[in-house]
Amino acid sequence: MATIIDGKAFANKVSEKLAEEVKQLRAEHGLRPCIAVVLVGEDPASQVYVRNKIKRCEELDIESREHRLDAATSQEQLLSLIDELNNDSSVHGILVQLPVPDQIDDAAVINAIAAHKDVDGFNVANVGALSTGNNLLVPCTPLGSLMMLEDHLGDLSGLNAVIVGRSNIVGKPMANLLLQKHCTVTIAHSRTRDLADVCRRADILVAAVGRPQFIQGDWIKPGATVIDVGINRIDDNGKSRLVGDVDFDAAIEHAGAITPVPGGVGPMTIACLMHNTVRAAKQQNGLV
Ligand code: GUN
Repeated sequence: MATIIDGKAFANKVSEKLAEEVKQLRAEHGLRPCIAVVLVGEDPASQVYVRNKIKRCEELDIESREHRLDAATSQEQLLSLIDELNNDSSVHGILVQLPVPDQIDDAAVINAIAAHKDVDGFNVANVGALSTGNNLLVPCTPLGSLMMLEDHLGDLSGLNAVIVGRSNIVGKPMANLLLQKHCTVTIAHSRTRDLADVCRRADILVAAVGRPQFIQGDWIKPGATVIDVGINRIDDNGKSRLVGDVDFDAAIEHAGAITPVPGGVGPMTIACLMHNTVRAAKQQNGLV
């Protein structure tokens, strides 16, 4: 039976350390990290994510400034707000919650955010930095996943890591982080042949496909460590329920360790956003 990796407890531990750091920054340097969170429209899932991010800021005494924009906001209006935030030295981090409405080009928005304030790590400058091993601000979900893997496994060197999913937000940065840790990395995706066999070679399996319970129990190498990035809402006999991309009940019979959904990767993503905000604030004030 697999060990369940408690992402919530680990995120609390990471957050406690950050709260100490924030306290120290205020006491010694009069600096209070500040993040601007921008939400365009009323996507219900995005509203929940933004609310959770702001709540965590409050718990850590990080300042958050929420900018809620109408669903009909134009790209020009959004870019103008980003420009304002880029030029406001009291704002250290800028996050535009994705997805944005169709009339707005998300790449244009992501790349308009000043790289040193891009706490999501999605900007091409941060992507380039990560892929050349000069990490600046690293995407939060892969960073949180890596922290859990290292906490559980220690040295990852030489392990076979298979990532299912090739998104810019999770799959690709996860691959770069695991390469930096000297794993042998495979990125599998919707066109991968013999996906089950590819997964069976993984000592580390990261599921980030966005398909509920897609990864089957017998695709998992006995003893492997499984990180389930998926958050999918399903109807379970008339009851709404959150599940991951892995068939959890079957997977625990094969895996050595696995992250649950909810309570696995999700809390670590938010903890890493706080980590990036503190890091950005320190960097912008010459403290790193
Ligand atoms: N939407 C889903 N995940 C994310 C994320 O990590 N950052 C932002 N900005 N939007 C998202």
